[in-house]
Amino acid sequence: MKNSVYIATSLDGYIARENGELDWLPGANGKPVEGLDPTDDLGFDAFFASVDVLVMGRHTFETALSIEAWPYPKMPVIILSSKLSQLPSGIPETIELRHSTPAELVEEMNLAGYQHAYIDGGKTIQRFLNAGLINDITITTIPVLLGNGIPLFGELNADIQLKLVESKTFANGMMQSRYEVS
Ligand SMILES: NC(=O)c1ccc[n+]([C@@H]2O[C@H](COP(=O)([O-])OP(=O)(O)OC[C@H]3O[C@@H](n4cnc5c(N)ncnc54)[C@H](OP(=O)(O)O)[C@@H]3O)[C@@H](O)[C@H]2O)c1
Repeated sequence: MKNSVYIATSLDGYIARENGELDWLPGANGKPVEGLDPTDDLGFDAFFASVDVLVMGRHTFETALSIEAWPYPKMPVIILSSKLSQLPSGIPETIELRHSTPAELVEEMNLAGYQHAYIDGGKTIQRFLNAGLINDITITTIPVLLGNGIPLFGELNADIQLKLVESKTFANGMMQSRYEVS
């Protein structure tokens, strides 16, 4: 199966402030992105329509839960955590909890018939990358320097070579690049 990343970072590579705040990320508050055609969703809807399961780390799950309504009502979602023994009560039945390694989870998803997973959350992406289980990465770069925060990338066991497949710039200064992992 294929595992993809679709994520936004600051120019200095952070996906959130240290406290998890996304106030620097255009559109994160649900408002239209300034300087962008309101019909332009940066390819997210097409990407999301291509995946059949979403895997997210506990921190991203907790952020998503704090949003008024669960943002992915129809998508099967797998939460990874070693600390949570069960999910909070009352959350949609489409959400499951796992403690698996990336390799174990990919095997399980394969057996379940999933074909394309969206892998989300910095630490989670780093673990999948280190396990050699990410096939492509789409990064939307926001022209802001945060100085510190939660990084997208971290230590690796070995270099990972990428091939740039597509790169676009937007009138408001955002840039989007899609890489395939070689
Ligand atoms: N800019 C964007 O586009 C974007 C996108 C997504 C998320 N975010 C933000 O990024 C922040 C979260 O990123 P993050 O790097 O802190 O964390 P994360 O990847 O969302 O969550 C990390 C946690 O996931 C669990 N985990 C991951 N892989 C696991 C595995 N194989 N087995 C068991 N547990 C596993 C661990 O939870 P335990 O500690 O329970 O073991 C780990 O501490 C949030 O603020 C979120 O809003 C931003």
